Amino acid sequence: MMLIVVLICFITFVNQSTLGQASVPDYEQPKVQCPDDILINSKGRSEIVSWKVIATDNSGVTPTISCSPKNGTSMRVPSHDIVGCEAKDAAGNYAHCFFSIDVKDVAPPKITCPPDVNIVSDKSQLRVNYGRLEVPEDNDGLPPSVYCSRQSGAMTSNPGQYTITCTAQDQSLNTASCSIKVTLTSPKCKMFPPPINGALACNDLSASLKVCTVSCNEKYDFEYKPAHAYTCPYGHWVNLFGGRTRWPNCTVKSNSKKLMKDSMFYYKGNPKDPAVTQQIQQNWVGILHNVNLVPPYLCIGKPECKASNVKVIAG
Ligand SMILES: *[C@@H]1O[C@H](CO)[C@@H](O)[C@H](O)[C@H]1NC(C)=O
Ligand SMILES: *[C@@H]1O[C@H](CO)[C@@H](O)[C@H](O)[C@H]1NC(C)=O
Repeated sequence: MMLIVVLICFITFVNQSTLGQASVPDYEQPKVQCPDDILINSKGRSEIVSWKVIATDNSGVTPTISCSPKNGTSMRVPSHDIVGCEAKDAAGNYAHCFFSIDVKDVAPPKITCPPDVNIVSDKSQLRVNYGRLEVPEDNDGLPPSVYCSRQSGAMTSNPGQYTITCTAQDQSLNTASCSIKVTLTSPKCKMFPPPINGALACNDLSASLKVCTVSCNEKYDFEYKPAHAYTCPYGHWVNLFGGRTRWPNCTVKSNSKKLMKDSMFYYKGNPKDPAVTQQIQQNWVGILHNVNLVPPYLCIGKPECKASNVKVIAG
């Protein structure tokens, strides 16, 4: 049946063309060619996308072309669309073609960090708050997600320097970062005067850890029992043994029975005399390396714990 119809058509066509008649029924589809898929990298909020579709027809008359969405449509950033185009000739024959349009968002989001934070505190740990981050709406119309390496209000060790990095990421995984520098410092230790008739020997083991010992001229004794060593980790003097945090004067005339059993807490002569100074420095090293007197973590194995680093102040 189909074959017969085709055959009749063919015969009719041949007949008519041989006869050179004008009214030829047109059953042939136009030819339509879509462009290649379109990729647009955009930093804007939308893109007007235009394209060219080529269509020809056997009639020699250019077919009408219509596409959906329309040529020149504004596309969101980011977006993915399939465009379908139809070419129609005067006889109503038509053909379709398709292509895709990808509008990629290549603009990083915007992020502005609050100012750096500088705090002086006598606490060993504190909550560090920083101000609000400025993260405006992204070009894709949505708020970016924001992540900071340390939350505002997080417990932070003092002293220390920290760099908090905050990153904003948009829906297309574009990122932008900024950082906040946090500097925590302890107040400087207020020095008490050295003991009268004695000497104060101190060593700065680090920027935040001063360790001092006191000793008396052997002709005198301490008013009260001193700490074996005093430290000043956060701007306050600490007696590691829980006693008074202020060192005593050596105002007690000495008898044979000394308040401190260890001879390293006494010296002979004038502490301003270099030989005596050296002896007091050696005593500091001896006390700090004696695990019966002070906890080993302060000095054992630390190169800073040497006599030449010890400053002696005569009372
Ligand atoms: C689409 O629009 C552009 C610019 O407006 C034009 O150059 C192009 O010919 C148009 N294409 C079609 C298929 O209409
Ligand atoms: C040590 O003596 C000085 C001078 O008299 C005094 O100012 C200081 O308070 C005394 N120290 C202590 C711990 O009593």
